[in-house]
Formats: sequence, C-alpha cells, structure tokens
Amino acid sequence: MAKPPLSMRPTGWFQVAWSDEVPVGTVRPMTYFGRDLVAWRGHSGQVTVMDAYCQHLGAHLAYGGEVVEDEVQCPFHGWRWNAQGRNTCIPYSDRPNMGKRIQTFPTVEKNEAIYVWHDLERREPYFEVPDVFSAWDDGRSAADYHSRSTLYDPALELHPQYVLENGVDFAHFKYVHKVPIIPQFTRQEFDEPISRVDFTIAFEGEPGSIEEVDSWVEAINCGIGLAVTKSHGMIDNRTATAVTPVDDRTCDVRFSVWIGREDGVDEETSARRAVRNGQAVIDQFAADIVIWSHQKYADPAALVRGEYAGFTALRTWAQQFYPEGERMPVGLTPPD
Ligand code: FES
Ligand SMILES: [Fe+2]
Repeated sequence: MAKPPLSMRPTGWFQVAWSDEVPVGTVRPMTYFGRDLVAWRGHSGQVTVMDAYCQHLGAHLAYGGEVVEDEVQCPFHGWRWNAQGRNTCIPYSDRPNMGKRIQTFPTVEKNEAIYVWHDLERREPYFEVPDVFSAWDDGRSAADYHSRSTLYDPALELHPQYVLENGVDFAHFKYVHKVPIIPQFTRQEFDEPISRVDFTIAFEGEPGSIEEVDSWVEAINCGIGLAVTKSHGMIDNRTATAVTPVDDRTCDVRFSVWIGREDGVDEETSARRAVRNGQAVIDQFAADIVIWSHQKYADPAALVRGEYAGFTALRTWAQQFYPEGERMPVGLTPPD
C-alpha cells in the first residue's frame, strides 16, 4: 500500500454523508481532512457540519450532544451552539459567550447527499455542486429515474485525483471495464474549477470501429471531490462519484447510480431491471476501486503520445485545488 503523495487537504466540495444518515434531530460524528467533525440536523431540516469540540471545555458534541430546535446542546454542561457556530446559551449564566465560535463548514444537500466545502484558507465557495439531474438542462428530473443504488467504500488508500484520472485514461476501459473498443475522448475541458469530459463507449456486439459507436458518457467534474455523469445511447443512467479525504492516508468513496424509468414497461419490471442495471454499473466502478486502492501514484509517469495531453491537462488543472506548499509539480514528460 502506498500513501498518496498528493495533498489530502484539497479545496472544494466533498461528500461527508448521505442525507438519510443525518435525520432531523440527530447528531453524527465524522472525521474528514484530519479533523473531527459533527453533522447535525435541526428541526427546520437544515444540516450543519462543524468542528466536533465544544469551545467550553472540549467535549465532543456527537457523543451525547442533543439537537434542541435549531441548535446543538453540548452533553457536558449544556452550552448551546447554533448553525453559525455561535454560542447562544449557557444554562447557568445570564449571557452566552460571544467571543468563542466553533468552526462551521459551508454545507449543501443535493441528490440525497451532504457536501461540505473545505478550504484551508477558509475562502467562501467559488463554484457550485452540480445537480445530477438538472446539470445538463435537458428537462429531466429525479422523477424520471428510479431510486438510486449506492456503493460506500470507506478508508481506502487512494486520492481523489486517481479517480478523476480515469476520465482521461482511455486505455484502462478495455482492461478494467472489458469494453470491446478503446473509447475516444470528444471533449476534455479543464479551464474552470468545474471541468468537462465526454467520451464514446462501446459494448459487446457493437460495430467494429469507434467511428460507428454512438453511445457516450458526459462527465462534469466539480473540483476533485465529485464527478457526475450522464449516459447517451445505452441504459439511461446518471452517476455521482464522491471521494473525500479522511486523513493523510485514506479516503471514503461513495458512488450513486440512478437508472432511468422506461416508457411502456410496467413499474415493477422497470424497477427490478433498475436494480440489476444499477448493480452492473456499480460492479464496473468497483473494478476501478481495486486498482486505485492499491495504486502507487506515478509522476513522472511513462505515457504514450495519445495519453500525454489528457493527463497533463488533468494534473495541471488539479493543482489549483491543493494548498500552496502542498502542490507537486506536474512532472510528466512528453513521449518521444
Ligand atoms: S464542554 Fe461543552 S458545555 Fe462544557
Ligand atoms: Fe474506470
């Protein structure tokens, strides 16, 4: 196993839970970016993610802490903290402590997942989490899809960048995913924090040349922590891949897939197929995980001509998400 050499404290949006793991009125402990955190959901439905330790005497808010309306109450001496991390009440004092504040993280919920914005410099978010249904503006919504299938694989020795590199790595599809024809990239845009990659993908029994293949995938990378995809010309699916650093060595991986409802097929049959097809997509993703979780990041890497541009673009783009002083120069050398 190899500890990833890339920064494990990147900037961006990262999934820390599924929405249903933090029901109204509950407090949940978690560790990400080497910090102990709590997520809690107030009675208004809003979820807050903050540092875990009470600013009074340091109790961990998730072990015995309680949600009271839209605040969290410390289990040790009953101090209450709001969604901004401000102290609102000390039960045995006539006023709260105005000076102390628990660090909170910008949090959004989208597609039944909870994402936090992490930035060591504590800048405000400067890009948004894409919605897996509305991101393509094609008039489709969650109602057009069956409920998702998911994979959760915690504490893997990998890095979010390994996962995104799949999106420029045409050669792995044949070996890891057993596609009959090597895919072709039709779009690789790495100008903004939200980047886009499209590639054709063929299946068994399809025409013999890539020019004839008319099934493809569009991917939107939201920084390095999250990528959403939409399929064309194959089983209608959307996916969301989220990779979140836990500490200096490991990441949690969460993958969601939604299979489209079918016209003219009864609900039960369609739902049954969705479960089977969702599992097939998950199996493909799981095949990638085996590689990533045992991979030792190579830079410089030995690339052939066709790989060089994509990897260089992706690795150069990824640098912007790493804190200064934790950036590795992109050492790729052009093939002869
Ligand atoms: S440690 Fe939290 S109220 Fe005292
Ligand atoms: Fe892959």
